[in-house]
Amino acid sequence: MHTSPQDVHKVLGKHMLTDGFDMVLDLENSHGAHLRDAKTGTDYVDFFTFFASNPLGMNHPKMAGHEAFRKEMHDVAIHNPSNSDVYTQQMADFVETFSRVGIPDYLPHSFFVAGGGLAVENAMKTAFDWKVQKNFQKGYRDEVGTMVMHFEHAFHGRTGYTMSVTNTEPTKVKYFPKFEWPRVSSPAMHYPETPEVIADVEHREKLAIAQAERFFMEYPDEIACILIEPIQAEGGDRHFRPEFHKELRRLADENEALLIYDEVQTGVGLSGKFWCHEHYVQPDIIAFGKKAQVCGILAGRRIEDIDTHVFAVSSRINSTWGGNLVDMVRFKRILEVIEEDNLVDHVASMGEVLLEKIQGFAQKHEFISNPRGKGLMCAMDLPDTHSRNAVVKECMHNELLILPCGPNTIRFRPPLSVTQDELHKGLEILEASYETALGKCPFIKGRG
Ligand SMILES: Cc1ncc(COP(=O)(O)O)c(C=O)c1O
Repeated sequence: MHTSPQDVHKVLGKHMLTDGFDMVLDLENSHGAHLRDAKTGTDYVDFFTFFASNPLGMNHPKMAGHEAFRKEMHDVAIHNPSNSDVYTQQMADFVETFSRVGIPDYLPHSFFVAGGGLAVENAMKTAFDWKVQKNFQKGYRDEVGTMVMHFEHAFHGRTGYTMSVTNTEPTKVKYFPKFEWPRVSSPAMHYPETPEVIADVEHREKLAIAQAERFFMEYPDEIACILIEPIQAEGGDRHFRPEFHKELRRLADENEALLIYDEVQTGVGLSGKFWCHEHYVQPDIIAFGKKAQVCGILAGRRIEDIDTHVFAVSSRINSTWGGNLVDMVRFKRILEVIEEDNLVDHVASMGEVLLEKIQGFAQKHEFISNPRGKGLMCAMDLPDTHSRNAVVKECMHNELLILPCGPNTIRFRPPLSVTQDELHKGLEILEASYETALGKCPFIKGRG
């Protein structure tokens, strides 16, 4: 039985909400940074990449055309072993490759799970376990040390713990029970960097650090970790200056808290470094997911302050499958391609092309502002939600898939392997769509 492309939404709609894209993805015939609609045969330029989770585009020749990889995928896909307790050669090959290409020497402990939110949640559990035991050593007899310092505009997922630290669109967390954990303002940069902008952000950084220090005083010994995305993604592609990251490192060290970077969206090459935190400071734990296919955490040696940390005691953090072996094998091949094709450097240079182009848009077009980016993780702003949504919708109409974030931002998430031609094609559609969308706006007609 095969459902025809025309029937896909109808069949799914009987049992689930199908308010996603109108297109039906043609897995076989989509290629590179293009997604093909199986219903119409239309090829969309893909600056969306399944919410930034597809690193090499569609049917990359070194994936789809690699016979040994296809066979290995086939062999593992007919099984689903519980990787936390039953080990395979395929898993060891993956971990070895990850170790060579992506695991920094300062984050030697690893844990795998399915889902970015669960990765972040397990990073928090690792920190709670560490802090509570530290407090026992200090003489506490109750479990103290279960708060997470986090930031405004953060998105860390929709699982039990992560909902307490996610505060972008209220719909995502409202009515669900949450913890009252200390939330600090987040002093994002604005671009271009003028002396006024710098002065303003320095002021907001000082305020945020003062808030954090106050929380550490107000809740002594209770804050287990500082959790932040190196660049806040869903909240609006909000960049922090290295100076701010350094202050967070200092606060974590001085207050016996772990510094956790949520690299679920920023990790695996997108920023022009393998991990985005490499632009800033070394954290104690990172959470990863999305482009890594398998999600999880990597943790550093500070964890070992406590002998009975979660990587040393069975079942403190665990799940049945411990990540999915198919995802591990797929990620192993992705890592090999990233390494062979020097894709992290490629991202850095394509990122320069992209950023220069959107800086040009901001100069040329009255209603485009705040062009910013690290590697291919670029973004720009429109005046408000309405105009931003109108541009995104017009892009879709003109066969470019691109994502919004924050109240008024458009974010770029092309595959790491995107070519200069693919970038230019997408940018041409974006510029034309901007002109059409704003041209329709009764308030600003003719000005944009
Ligand atoms: C920074 C960040 N953390 C966590 C998550 C949650 O990941 P998942 O949706 O895989 O649970 C996301 C998802 O967009 C994210 O961007």
